[in-house]
Amino acid sequence: MARISYVNGRYLHHAEAMVHVEDRGYQFADGIYEYVAFYNRTLLDGPLHWRRLELSLAALAIEKPVSMAALDIVVRELIERNGREHGGLYVQVTRGVARRDHPFPKQTKPALVMTICAPKFPKPQEISQGVKVITAADQRWTRRDIKSVSLLANVLAKQEASRNQAREAWLVEADGRISEGSVSNAYIVSKSGELITHPADTHILGGVTRDVVLRLARKAGIKVSERPFTLKEAQSAAEAFITSTSANVLPVVKIDDAPVGTGRLGDVTRTLQTLYATHIFKQTGFQF
Ligand SMILES: Cc1ncc(COP(=O)(O)O)c(C=O)c1O
Repeated sequence: MARISYVNGRYLHHAEAMVHVEDRGYQFADGIYEYVAFYNRTLLDGPLHWRRLELSLAALAIEKPVSMAALDIVVRELIERNGREHGGLYVQVTRGVARRDHPFPKQTKPALVMTICAPKFPKPQEISQGVKVITAADQRWTRRDIKSVSLLANVLAKQEASRNQAREAWLVEADGRISEGSVSNAYIVSKSGELITHPADTHILGGVTRDVVLRLARKAGIKVSERPFTLKEAQSAAEAFITSTSANVLPVVKIDDAPVGTGRLGDVTRTLQTLYATHIFKQTGFQF
C-alpha cells in the first residue's frame, strides 16, 4: 500500500507531500509536534497527546489549524489510507507560510502536516536486558515543556549517543541534575525502592508515557518522588529506566560505562513494563 501523508487539507503520496520554503517551521522552528503510537489502528492515549498539543499551541499563541473533532477524523482517515495496523503518527503544526520576518505574521493560517510511519518497537533484547545511556550537557532552551520542533540540542545529544553505541543521552544541567533524555524521560529507583523522576515543569517535556507510568506506579503501591536527581545519585541507584512513546519502558543498565545496580533488569522496572504492556492491551487489544 502506498504511503500517504496529509498536508493542509490534502492527502498526498508521501513523495509529493511538500511544504512551502517560507513555512515558519522550516525557517524559524516556529511550530510544535506530537508523536502518537497506534496499535490495531487505535491511538494509544490519544486524548493525552491532544491535550499536550493544545498546550504547546497555546504556549506559542499558534491557532489550532482545525478543530480537535476534525483532527480526529483526519487522523483516522490517514491511518486507514496507509493501511497500517500498528505504527506512529507524526503531527506537526507551524505558524504557517509568510515572508521571512521574525514577528508573528498578521494573516497567516497555521500549517498542519501529518505522516504515518512504521512502528518503532524496542528490540526484545533491549526490553529484557536493558540499554546503555551516555550523559551529555543539556544545551536546550528554558521552555522544554513545549513540544517544539526546535530539536537541535536534542539531535546533537542523540547523535553523541549513537556515536557511543548508546540508546539514549541523559541530559545534565549546569547544576549536575539530570533533566531527561534527548527523546525520553529519565527515572531511577533508589536502593530503598523509591521511584525518582524530574517533576513535569519547564525543565522537561512532560511525557505522555511518563504520566501513565507514574499513575500505574502509584496504583501499584510504588513510592514515587517527582524531584530532580543528580548523576551521582543515578550512579548509585538500584535501577534506572527511560520512557517514551516509542521506547515504552526500557531498563537502563549502564550510564556512561558504569553499570546501574546489578547491571540487570530490576524488579520495579519489570513490574512497570508489565503494567504498561497491560495498559496498551486494554486500550488497543495489542499484545507485545
Ligand atoms: C525530550 C523528550 N522528553 C520526553 C519524551 C517522551 O514523551 P512521550 O512519552 O510523550 O513520548 C520525548 C518524546 O519525544 C522527548 O522528545
